[in-house]
Amino acid sequence: ENTLGAAAAQSGRYFGTAIASGRLSDSTYTSIAAREFNMVTAENEMKIDATEPQRGQFNFSAADRVYNWAVQNGKQVRGHTLAWHSQQPGWMQSLSGSALRQAMIDHINGVMAHYKGKIVQWDVVNEAFADGSSGARRDSNLQRSGNDWIEVAFRTARAADPSAKLCYNDYNVENWNWAKTQAMYNMVRDFKQRGVPIDCVGFQSHFNSGSPYDSNFRTTLQNFAALGVDVAITELDIQGAPASTYANVTNDCLAVARCLGITVWGVRDSDSWRSEQTPLLFNNNGSKKAAYTAVLDTL
Ligand code: XIL
Repeated sequence: ENTLGAAAAQSGRYFGTAIASGRLSDSTYTSIAAREFNMVTAENEMKIDATEPQRGQFNFSAADRVYNWAVQNGKQVRGHTLAWHSQQPGWMQSLSGSALRQAMIDHINGVMAHYKGKIVQWDVVNEAFADGSSGARRDSNLQRSGNDWIEVAFRTARAADPSAKLCYNDYNVENWNWAKTQAMYNMVRDFKQRGVPIDCVGFQSHFNSGSPYDSNFRTTLQNFAALGVDVAITELDIQGAPASTYANVTNDCLAVARCLGITVWGVRDSDSWRSEQTPLLFNNNGSKKAAYTAVLDTL
């Protein structure tokens, strides 16, 4: 196979990218994205501030531009993200307590209804754990609305679209030895034991000198899969894009039967939210980097 998506499909997996609606008029960008990838995540367009800019007034114009581009080009779509402390619209930032809880529920219902039956995986909750060694939940208005906000989000999501896989997604949870990883593991184990509807865990996988790739990532993926959830690599980028690290991450996913696929967080280095790290598979002029060949040869 000579594209990432087709190569991943040989083992029943996908290879995706983040798509930014503002770049869909760039033909270099769209031709690479259309050719190489078979899964799409909207980089920002399905976030809370984009889809519900005023309370109760949903706006799917940018989200639908990404969604329609994906479907017209034969790709599936991961939804990102329904409940998050970041990129909240102003009206939500100012809410707390039961009013915020209801707004979160209404938001999940509104967005999932629009895309009912059309999204293969939803990141229902994003980044709910704190960094560092505490293993605690991240402080946020959502967390202060009650510790059960995450399970409420998942139960709401299941009822809104029973056909979507429901994922919890976070970063700095790839190394099995990190406290944040253990905290996320304990939550997923508890959810599975109590029947809270969760189907998958997304590992963002933004690797850099501060949070480097470690070969125990495969152990992490295996241990989560053993809890009875699928796993996915959802926002991969690696500082400097070493070919060997990209190959290792690819092998880690291939080694775990329940690893659904890999998504890189952008197309060219110049499209990256961390472009100065040159972390992606295509350089600024759209040519394939060594990391691209390493991934393709590994798949
Ligand atoms: C980033 C986007 O790439 C940027 O364009 C935006 O300014 C900020 O958000 N974790 C996530 C993603 O879950 O939504 C973030 O995306 C990167 C970190």
